[in-house]
Amino acid sequence: MFLSFLFFILILNTSSSATIILQGNNTLQSPNNTFQLGFFNFFPGPGPGPPKFYLAIRRTSLPYPNTVWVANRLHPSASQTASSLKLTATGQLLLTHFNTTLWTAAAATTTNLTLRLLESGNLVLLTSDGGVSWQSFDSPSDTWLPGMNLTRFNSLVSWRTDTDPSPGLYSLRLKPSFYGEFELVFNDTVSYWSTGNWSNGIFANVPEMTVPYIYAFHFAAPFSPAATFGFSERVIATGFGAPTMFRVEPFGQVKQYSWNSQSGSWEHFWSKPESPCQVRGLCGGFGVCTGETSKLCECVSGFKPLDNHGWGSGEYSQGCHRVEAGCDTGDGFKDLGAVKFGFGNVSLVKGKSRSSCERECLGDCGCVGLSFDEQSGLCKNFYGSLSDFQNLTADGESGILYVRVPGGGSGKKGFDWKVLSGVVIGSVAVLGVVVVTLLVMVKRRGGRKGLEEEDGFVPVLNLRVFSYKELQLATRGFSEKIGHGGFGTVFQGELSDASIVAVKRLERPGSGEKEFRAEVSTIGNIQHVNLVRLRGFCSENSHRLLVYEYMQNGALSVYLRKEGPSLSWDVRFRVAVGTAKGIAYLHEECRCCIIHCDIKPENILLDADFTAKVSDFGLAKLIGRDFSRVLATMRGTWGYVAPEWISGVAITTKADVYSYGMTMLELIGGRRNVETLPSASGGGEGGTESGGKWFFPPWAAQQIVDGNVGEVIDKRLGDVYNVEEARRVALVAVWCIQDDEAMRPTMGMVVKMLEGLVDVSVPPPPQLLQALVTGDSFHGVKANSGNGVSTGGSLSDGNLEVSTADTESYTGNVFSPLDVNVNVSVR
Ligand SMILES: *[C@@H]1O[C@H](CO)[C@@H](O)[C@H](O)[C@H]1NC(C)=O
Ligand SMILES: *[C@@H]1O[C@H](CO)[C@@H](O)[C@H](O)[C@H]1NC(C)=O
Ligand SMILES: *[C@@H]1O[C@H](CO)[C@@H](O)[C@H](O)[C@H]1NC(C)=O
Ligand SMILES: *[C@@H]1O[C@H](CO)[C@@H](O)[C@H](O)[C@H]1NC(C)=O
Ligand SMILES: *[C@@H]1O[C@H](CO)[C@@H](O)[C@H](O)[C@H]1NC(C)=O
Ligand SMILES: *[C@@H]1O[C@H](CO)[C@@H](O)[C@H](O)[C@H]1NC(C)=O
Ligand SMILES: *[C@@H]1O[C@H](CO)[C@@H](O)[C@H](O)[C@H]1NC(C)=O
Ligand SMILES: *[C@@H]1O[C@H](CO)[C@@H](O)[C@H](O)[C@H]1NC(C)=O
Ligand SMILES: *[C@@H]1O[C@H](CO)[C@@H](O)[C@H](O)[C@H]1NC(C)=O
Repeated sequence: MFLSFLFFILILNTSSSATIILQGNNTLQSPNNTFQLGFFNFFPGPGPGPPKFYLAIRRTSLPYPNTVWVANRLHPSASQTASSLKLTATGQLLLTHFNTTLWTAAAATTTNLTLRLLESGNLVLLTSDGGVSWQSFDSPSDTWLPGMNLTRFNSLVSWRTDTDPSPGLYSLRLKPSFYGEFELVFNDTVSYWSTGNWSNGIFANVPEMTVPYIYAFHFAAPFSPAATFGFSERVIATGFGAPTMFRVEPFGQVKQYSWNSQSGSWEHFWSKPESPCQVRGLCGGFGVCTGETSKLCECVSGFKPLDNHGWGSGEYSQGCHRVEAGCDTGDGFKDLGAVKFGFGNVSLVKGKSRSSCERECLGDCGCVGLSFDEQSGLCKNFYGSLSDFQNLTADGESGILYVRVPGGGSGKKGFDWKVLSGVVIGSVAVLGVVVVTLLVMVKRRGGRKGLEEEDGFVPVLNLRVFSYKELQLATRGFSEKIGHGGFGTVFQGELSDASIVAVKRLERPGSGEKEFRAEVSTIGNIQHVNLVRLRGFCSENSHRLLVYEYMQNGALSVYLRKEGPSLSWDVRFRVAVGTAKGIAYLHEECRCCIIHCDIKPENILLDADFTAKVSDFGLAKLIGRDFSRVLATMRGTWGYVAPEWISGVAITTKADVYSYGMTMLELIGGRRNVETLPSASGGGEGGTESGGKWFFPPWAAQQIVDGNVGEVIDKRLGDVYNVEEARRVALVAVWCIQDDEAMRPTMGMVVKMLEGLVDVSVPPPPQLLQALVTGDSFHGVKANSGNGVSTGGSLSDGNLEVSTADTESYTGNVFSPLDVNVNVSVR
C-alpha cells in the first residue's frame, strides 16, 4: 500500500518485469510521513552546470539538514522527470535516468520483494516472509540515525559541501583491524580525532556518554570484526522522542543534532572535534582556519585560493598557492607567529642566524618557509605544502614560522594580524571555550522591566558601579581565587571601606554594555535573606564583573567531603529550608520569575551564621544559556541536570526542583552524588569497578522509599539528628527527583512540606534513576526494589561497595507513565 504513489507518465522499456517505484516528482512516504524518499536537488536556485537530482531520503517537515541518505552520490541525474526507481523481478533496485543506470542496490535473487520506507528512515526491501533483503541503514551516507548500526563495512562519509552530496574528504569509521573505537579520518588516511577505546560502556574520549537519559548505546562484539555499534532513543517519562541524528559535517566535525520543537530549530547537542579548526586539512595548503562560519578559511597573505570557485562555495581543501607562481631569490618571509601546522617536509640545517636560514631557503625553490631555534641554532626549512596552521601547542613545531612570500624583504612585510587573529580564534575554539555554533538552548526571556533608558544606558538602581581599576586593587590584582564556576572565576577582595567582597569575573560575556546593565539591574533588585546579595558591578570595555557580599563559611560543597568539616543536623535542616525558600522566591515571588538552572552545592553559600544563600541566580540569563554549559555540567556533575533539560524541551522551574532534590540527597548523606572510586581498594568483596564511578541517588532513593532513611543519613552524624525532620527532607528529595516534572512539587510546596505544614507521603522510586543503574551505559549499584539491602552495594563506614558492571539491559516499559499524584493535605 505504500507503493500507491505510482505515476505512469512514461512507460520505460528497459525491463518489462521491473516495477516502477518512483518517478519524477513522486515520493514514497514513511507510514507517519516523517521521512520521504524522492528525487531531490540540493542546490538552491540555478546552480553551476546542469541540475543534479539525487535519490534521497529526507525528513518531510524539518529544515536543513534534513537529508539523511543519498543513493547516487557520485552520479546525479540531470532531470527529475526522467529519473525513476525500479524494482526488478530479481529483487534489484535500479535508479535510471532515461536508459542510463545511475545506481543499483541489492542484486538479490529473491523475488516477491516489497520496498518500504520505515518510520526510522530506513529504506528496506522486505521478503514475503518479512525478512530484510536489503536496507539503506547498511549503506549510510553521512548521517547516523537511531536504529542504524555502524560496522566495519559502513562508514559515514561527509558531503563535499552543504549543497553537494558527493563524498567529501571526511569520514567516521570503525578503526580498521582494531574495531574498538571510532575515528574521524581525512582523505581515508589521516585520523584527526578518535573516540578512544570502548571500556565500561563508554568511549574513553566521550565521557558525555555516561548521561544515558535519552540514548542507549550498544556495542556488540567490540574489538572483533563483528563489531556493531548502534544507538536508540530511550523514551523517558517526559515524553521525549525528538528527532535526532549524528552527522559528519562537510567541514569534518561530527555533530549530534536534536530537534527542539519549542524553538523550531536543530540544536547541536555535541560535536567533535570541538572546533572546525581542529579538523585536518580543512583549509588546504597555506590556508588558515579562522573559525568563523561565514568564511572558515583564509589564505596566508601573498597567497590566493587554488580553486576559486570551491573557495567561494565553502570547499577549501585545495588550499592556496602563491599569487606569483614560481620562486624568486628576492622573496621575503612573513612572520606567522608561533603556530603549529601539519604535513610539510622538514629539513634541519645548522645555521648561525635567521638570515643564514633565509639564504638557505631562498636557494631552494622548493623551500616554502622556515623556523629558527635560537637555542639550538637549528634552521628548520619546510618543503612542499604547509597546512593546518594552529596556534602553538606543546607538541607542535616550536618557534615562529616564517612563510616564504613573493617579493620584498622580511622588513617590508608587517605582522599579519588578520591571519594571526584567525589562528588565535582557532586556538580558543581548540580549547573548547567557545563553540560558536552551539545554539542558545532556551531563548532568553525578555527582561528589563520598568527601566527607563537614558543616554543609551539603563540606569542601575541600588547598585554601586565599580571601576575595573578599583576592583583590581580590591582583589590585589585578582590574586585570591576563592572559587570557579560555569560563569567565571571568583576572587576575594577588600573594598576601601574594609568590607570583604567576592568578585566574580565573568568569562565570555554574552552581551553588550546595555544588556549587561539591564540584566544586572534585574538581579540587583532581587533581595531575599536566602539569596546572595549583589552589591555592585563593573562594566568597562570587555570587562564584566559582579561584586557580591562575602560569605564567611563558603559553599555547601565544602561540607560534603568525608575528610572535610561536617555540619550538624540542625544546620543541615536550616540549609534545606533556607535554600528552598531562596529558590521559591526566585520562582514564585520576584517579578521576573527566574529559573536558576544551576542549583548544586557549589552554588549554595553559607554566611557567618550558616544561613544558606543561593548564589549565581540570573546569570544564565546574563550569559545566555547554551548547550556548552549543559555539557560542562554533565561532564563534571551531571547528576543535577533534569532529564527534560537534556532531552531538549524547554525547561521550567521544575528543572531547579530536580537539582534541588539531588542536592538534598548530598546534604543529608554528607557526600557527593557521584564519587570516583579508588581503583585498587574499595572493599574487595563484590566486584569493584576499578576507576569506576559510583552513583549515590538511585541507591539512596530506593532506601528512602523503602523506609530506611537512616541508611542514607551521613554516618558522621551518628544518632544525633532529628529523625522526623530527616524523614521529611529525604522524602521531599525523592519527590523532587521524579522523572516526570509534573510529579515534582513546586519549591513553594517543598517549603511547606519541609516545615511540616503539609504531610509528605512516600514517593515512588524515580524510574529513570533505576534505569540508569540497570542500563548498559552506566555502572553502579543495583538497587532492587522491595529488597532492603541492595544486591550490589552496602553502606558501611561511608564506604560503598559497587556491583560489577552488570549487563542487564534496559527495557522500555520501565518508563511507562506513572499515574501517581503528589498526595498532600493541608493540616
Ligand atoms: C509533478 O509533475 C507533474 C508532471 O510533470 C506536474 O503536473 C505536477 O504539477 C508536479 N507536481 C508537483 C507537486 O510539482
Ligand atoms: C504513527 O503515529 C501514530 C499516532 O501518533 C502512532 O500511534 C503510531 O505508533 C505511529 N506509527 C509509527 C510506525 O511510528
Ligand atoms: C533506450 O533504449 C531503447 C532500446 O533499449 C532505445 O530504443 C531508446 O532509444 C533508448 N532511449 C534513449 C533515450 O536512449
Ligand atoms: C508472491 O506474493 C504473492 C502475494 O503476496 C503470492 O501469492 C505469491 O505466491 C508469491 N510468490 C512467491 C514466488 O513467493
Ligand atoms: C542493530 O544491531 C542490533 C543489535 O546488534 C540489532 O538488534 C538490530 O536489528 C540492528 N539494526 C539494524 C537496522 O540492522
Ligand atoms: C587524498 O589522497 C589522494 C591519494 O592518497 C591524493 O592524491 C590527494 O591529493 C589527497 N587529497 C587531499 C586533498 O589531500
Ligand atoms: C586501546 O586499546 C589498545 C589495545 O587494548 C591499546 O593498544 C591502546 O593503547 C588503547 N588506546 C588508548 C587510547 O587507550
Ligand atoms: C622533502 O624535501 C626534500 C628536499 O626538497 C626532497 O628531496 C624530498 O624528496 C622531500 N620528501 C618528500 C616526502 O616530499
Ligand atoms: C596561543 O594560545 C595561547 C593560549 O592557549 C596564548 O596565550 C598565546 O598568546 C597564543 N599565541 C599566539 C601566537 O596566538
